[in-house]
Amino acid sequence: MRIFLDTANIDQIREAAKLGVISGVTTNPSLMSKVGRSDYREAVLEICSIVAGPISAEVLGQGPEEIIQEARGIASWAPNVVVKIPVTPAGLEAISVLAKEQVKVNMTLCFSVNQALLGALAGAAYVSPFVGRLDDAGHDGMGLVADIVDVYERYDFTTEVIAASIRHPLHCVAAAQAGAHIATVPYDVLMQMIDHPMTTAGVAKFIQDWERIAKA
Ligand code: E4P
Repeated sequence: MRIFLDTANIDQIREAAKLGVISGVTTNPSLMSKVGRSDYREAVLEICSIVAGPISAEVLGQGPEEIIQEARGIASWAPNVVVKIPVTPAGLEAISVLAKEQVKVNMTLCFSVNQALLGALAGAAYVSPFVGRLDDAGHDGMGLVADIVDVYERYDFTTEVIAASIRHPLHCVAAAQAGAHIATVPYDVLMQMIDHPMTTAGVAKFIQDWERIAKA
């Protein structure tokens, strides 16, 4: 399973990229607004200069034509930009047109296997089931990820599953166990994935023991 960073915060992206474990970034209008960026294109190009992998940028258009035009524009920003389109009738219509033009789409706001199936049939390169939001509503978010992976494997779909709306490190473990191709994680969760009190204690003990002998 690959790891994407789910943020529009440039400092966090720079820090995370140094670790060498991030192969993409996902953004959305809420994440842009959180960091006060209204220049979506400029922000995405800045992210592209840091991370070479797929960078998702979301459309805001509603009708199919509006989405298609906007998506073509976003896709032209850089070769690694992926267009995020929500699962709606207009979104599916747009995805099927864009897929024929080789525009890579990340079908977002996915909350059911049926939506994921339709996204794959329309030609989406990625589908993003929102695990945390489903859990919040009392549903089994990671169960959905596993079910989508199962259906895609059964029919040899090439659409990749991005476990999204990740809230804590155990979500990442479960996403990997469910067979998600990618988990897109907030910076704080990435840091929590690295952290373990026994590693911290072990490092402190090694240093302490070495200093004792070095001073002797
Ligand atoms: C995915 O691409 C979305 O940006 C993100 O995971 C949404 O998560 P949230 O539920 O934390 O807003």
